[in-house]
Parts: sequence; C-alpha cells; structure tokens
Amino acid sequence: MQLFIDTADIVQIREAYSWGIVDGVTTNPTHIANSGKPFDDVLAEIFELVDGPISVESVSTNAPGIIAEGRRIAAFHKNAVVKVPVMIEGLKAVKVLSSEGIKTNVTLCFSPVQAFLAAKAGATYISPFIHRLDMVGHEGADLIRQIRAIYDNYGFETKILAASIRNVKQVLDSLLAGADVCTMPLEMLEALYRHPLTDAGLQSFLTDWKRVPPSRLFEAAAV
Ligand code: E4P
Repeated sequence: MQLFIDTADIVQIREAYSWGIVDGVTTNPTHIANSGKPFDDVLAEIFELVDGPISVESVSTNAPGIIAEGRRIAAFHKNAVVKVPVMIEGLKAVKVLSSEGIKTNVTLCFSPVQAFLAAKAGATYISPFIHRLDMVGHEGADLIRQIRAIYDNYGFETKILAASIRNVKQVLDSLLAGADVCTMPLEMLEALYRHPLTDAGLQSFLTDWKRVPPSRLFEAAAV
C-alpha cells in the first residue's frame, strides 16, 4: 500500500518525504487555504520537492469548468492528478479527462455505488473518506471492503485511496481491506512509527549500554 501525505504545508511535506516512506501528496481547497500562500506558489513548491502523484482539486461545479481546470492542472506537471468530487458533472468531466490520458482522483466518496460510477468513468483513484464515515456511526473500513470487492469482481483498475484518516486503526483497517493507497496528515504518519514498548525497550537498552566500556568501533562512527 502506498502512503501519501494529506497537506499543502511544504514544511510538513519536506519532513515526511525525508523519512523515505512517502509516495505522493493529496491536497484540497482547505489545505491550500490553510497554507496561507498563493495557490500557484504552493503547487510549484510541492511539485519541485515530491516525485510522485500529487492530487490537486478542481473547484468548478460544471463539467466544462472542471475539464478546463483539469487540463491546466495536468499541463502544470507530469505528476499531477486532477481531484474531482463525485457528482454527475464531476464524473462527466472524469470521463473526458481520462480519455485524454489525464489522471483523476474522484473525491468525497461515501458509498460503494459512487465508487462503481467513478470506475466506470475511468477514474485513476477513488477516495473513500473513512473518518468522516466513522464519525457519523458508519464503519469506514466496510466501505473499502465493498469497493475492493466490486473492483475485483468486475476487473476495474481504479485504485482505492483511503482518505480522511485520523487514527492508526484506520490505517490498519485500510491495509487489511486491500486499499491501494492511504493518505493522512503528518502527525498520523508519525504515529505509525510509535509504540510504548518500543520506547521502553530502547530506553532500557541505552541505559544498559552505559555499563559497556568505550568502543573504538562506535567512537569512529559517532556523528
Ligand atoms: C483526501 O484527499 C482529503 O484531502 C482528506 O483526506 C480530507 O478529509 P479530512 O478533512 O476528513 O481529513
């Protein structure tokens, strides 16, 4: 499963990218607004830093507008993926953009039939929003399982991109349910590394190491 970082904050993207586990980036209008920078400048910074799929969201609500924005996003960089909300006008646009070889990420997916329609339109990615479903009493992971079954039953190649992730359990559920990609904020990526037993074990090893006489081998390697 690939990992994407879900933000337009270049400092956070740079930090996560330096860990060697980030494959791409997802942005949305909220992230761009929160960056406090002009849209074009934010995009230039992200595309220069990350060599992987970067989703940029269209903001038009009719197909011609989405298609025009999508073509511009795609022309901006070879790694650009056009993010389009699930709706009739959105999927009309996805059909046209995908026929032109432009990659798309159909977003704000909350049902398996929406994911089916996105795949029929030729979407590259479908983004089910897991935490937003969990928050209203649904089981977000069930949506991933249902989409996986539909795509496997009918041979759709659209990739499942688990989005709206707020805890480690949702990442584990995404892995077990067969998501192709999971996108999350920096603090969630960091949380994946953590376990209290790792911290306690490391602390005790380092404490015990103080009882070992100085080593020439490690002295030479000290940074
Ligand atoms: C994904 O592409 C979205 O940007 C993101 O996950 C939005 O969901 P959230 O606002 O619930 O995190």
